[in-house]
Amino acid sequence: MSTIVLAYSGGLDTSVLLKRLLLEGNDVIALTADLGESDGATGEAAAAAIAAISAKALALGARDAVAIDVRQRFYDEFVLPAFAANVRYEGCYPLSAALSRPLIAALLVETARSCGADAVAHGCTGKGNDQVRIEFGVRALDPSLQVRAPLRESPLSRPDAIAFAAQHDIPIAQSAAKPYSIDANLWGRSIEAGVLEDPWVAPPEDAFGWTASPQQRPSAPSEIVVHFTAGVPRVEDSVGPALLAKLNILGGEHGIGRIDLIEDRVIGLKSRELYEAPAATLLLAAREALERLVLTRDELRFKAGIDRKYAELVYDGLWYSPLRTAFDAFNGVTSQRLSGEVRLRLFQGCATVVGVRSPFALYDEGLATYGAGDRFDHRAADGFIHLAGLPFDRLAQVAAVAAP
Ligand code: ARG
Repeated sequence: MSTIVLAYSGGLDTSVLLKRLLLEGNDVIALTADLGESDGATGEAAAAAIAAISAKALALGARDAVAIDVRQRFYDEFVLPAFAANVRYEGCYPLSAALSRPLIAALLVETARSCGADAVAHGCTGKGNDQVRIEFGVRALDPSLQVRAPLRESPLSRPDAIAFAAQHDIPIAQSAAKPYSIDANLWGRSIEAGVLEDPWVAPPEDAFGWTASPQQRPSAPSEIVVHFTAGVPRVEDSVGPALLAKLNILGGEHGIGRIDLIEDRVIGLKSRELYEAPAATLLLAAREALERLVLTRDELRFKAGIDRKYAELVYDGLWYSPLRTAFDAFNGVTSQRLSGEVRLRLFQGCATVVGVRSPFALYDEGLATYGAGDRFDHRAADGFIHLAGLPFDRLAQVAAVAAP
């Protein structure tokens, strides 16, 4: 028998797990994190929902139920550094679920320490990425803790889970015919399973919860200005989690941020997932535009490689790796000049950058212009081409000799 902190969402699977761990004779502490999935604009609705989840855990027999609002911490410690790396796994997925797992790992470890628990548990299956992310995180932060993954030890089909719930008086909120598996937080919403498992099937509208269908979108565009100060975004007076909540709503109305991806999972298989990430899509578009204006050509080329690797590290569960910390240091430097403004037009599923300016802009209109007032020395290009093209003169001679 041990004292176990269980990452508890209040859903069917983790409720069954809680009961199973209790039946084994363990003491269970249910941990629930508020990551802003219910948008977090005011926090009131979310607080009530989280309190209900904790009450359910206690009713099922948990020794204690801990609920933590981690929206600000999620934004500061996970979203902001990843945003500086323009995170998009395989070029598309902004890593919403993937960024929350190292934080959940930290919360499990911190709660285990404060409650004197010797083990932690989660409800991930053996197929997914999240088991890897949570368990690498726990091991990086406290390798002495035991980790339990009961759904991996003995997988549970949905009908079996429902039967077990009925047998043990576990209330099931959602309908038995729940069509999708959903994960959400302030940075985005993920939807998988059900009819989506056939990659030929177009995403049904009922899979989307945050973004309007083409028929529902406004017929006129909206425009916003994203202000950056050393890489940190603001729109009007909204910053942090409140900014993400605001942009998820505004972008969602215009149907922005729908992603349909066949992705490569950590454990080696391909899966299909839909994402809705209006705020992430808007902010990433804005940041990339500003980076192009203020970073040097070499910084941009080098950073593109690092950004790609950063997304792979996060996806693969390596948040607590020294390489990620080193990339953060690099991004800290490239973000220093990332101040300025970006105009975005939101319309019919698209976010288009229509304007950008910065006191650190390397773009110089006097040099770039084709109009009057051109300060560019056209004759200097002659010398550049003469020297930089020298290898071609020699190559052509060699080719002529070698020709039959
Ligand atoms: N495929 C995404 C990832 O690995 C999301 C995982 C959670 N998705 C879900 N629908 N439950 O990061």
